[in-house]
Amino acid sequence: MNDRNAATSSPEKKAAGKAAADLVTDGMVVGLGTGSTTAYTIEELGKRVADGLDILAVVTSYQSEMLAIDAGIPLTTLAEHPVLDIAIDGADQIDSNLNAIKGGGAAHTREKVVAQSAKRFVVVADDSKVAGKLDHPVPLEVLPYARNLVMQKVAELGAKPVLRTAVRKDGPVITDNGNFLIDADFGVINDPAELGIKLSTCTGIVEHGIFTNVDDVYIGKKNGTVEVRSATKN
Ligand code: A5P
Repeated sequence: MNDRNAATSSPEKKAAGKAAADLVTDGMVVGLGTGSTTAYTIEELGKRVADGLDILAVVTSYQSEMLAIDAGIPLTTLAEHPVLDIAIDGADQIDSNLNAIKGGGAAHTREKVVAQSAKRFVVVADDSKVAGKLDHPVPLEVLPYARNLVMQKVAELGAKPVLRTAVRKDGPVITDNGNFLIDADFGVINDPAELGIKLSTCTGIVEHGIFTNVDDVYIGKKNGTVEVRSATKN
């Protein structure tokens, strides 16, 4: 495991991240997510590329770009490959209907673009991320200029919003897109899709962290096993 992720390494995350890498086969164009769980997927894919696996990958952040380069995975762009065969990414929380909250790593805007570009979107997580209903604060990437407007609007929607700050300097976290982040705590979210639509209409929010298009979730357990849950297709 690369030093960038050593602090958050866990057997559960490793089991999930590696198992999902098995879904990738020759000729695929793959979306690579961000975070400590997906780092294991990237590491595993790098080993398989060294053994001859023929893939191209699109990253979701500078973090996943650096890991993919370290791992020797050939990269491409969404401009060149606007349709991806699969995207594999982590999550902060997943409910029983496979709705997810993402953005703990400040990357959910690019992650959502990549997930929406993929024919299959797979989430990898340890079992602490699984909940009956979503109640994790929702990350909102916001235009810096609009932060106070967004704070006010999401408070009107019932949230307690907090500007995400950097650990050491007490300044705002800046995303890869040059924006700020607000974590909006709505308590229990009974209808994630409905809340997502409301947040999408809020001027100043570039993207919210509610994902309603997950196809499969790979859940790593302490004993090293992986449970797979798949969305029911209508
Ligand atoms: C990045 O912005 C997030 O969406 C991550 O995918 C999410 O926070 C999961 O991260 P870990 O795999 O490190 O828990």
